[in-house]
Amino acid sequence: MAKIFIDNIEYNVKDQTQIADVCEKHGIPFSCNSGVCGTCQIEVLEGPDNLAELNQEEKDMAMDRNHRLACQCVIKSGIVKVTY
Ligand code: FES
Repeated sequence: MAKIFIDNIEYNVKDQTQIADVCEKHGIPFSCNSGVCGTCQIEVLEGPDNLAELNQEEKDMAMDRNHRLACQCVIKSGIVKVTY
């Protein structure tokens, strides 16, 4: 089980899962859901290494380890803290 804190609110998520659902539940806006619009950009405050590597869509949008697209991002395990 992994944990994601979004603006200090804690959510439990399964290891190796997309974070999009929990981010959407929290109120982070989404639009394209395919990594091309940038609407869902989040800032990673802690635990960037607990997220999977940036995928091609995130690289194309000039994301980095502390700026990710919530619609593309997978949590590996452990604790990640983000804001948006
Ligand atoms: S919703 Fe468009 S990039 Fe994530």
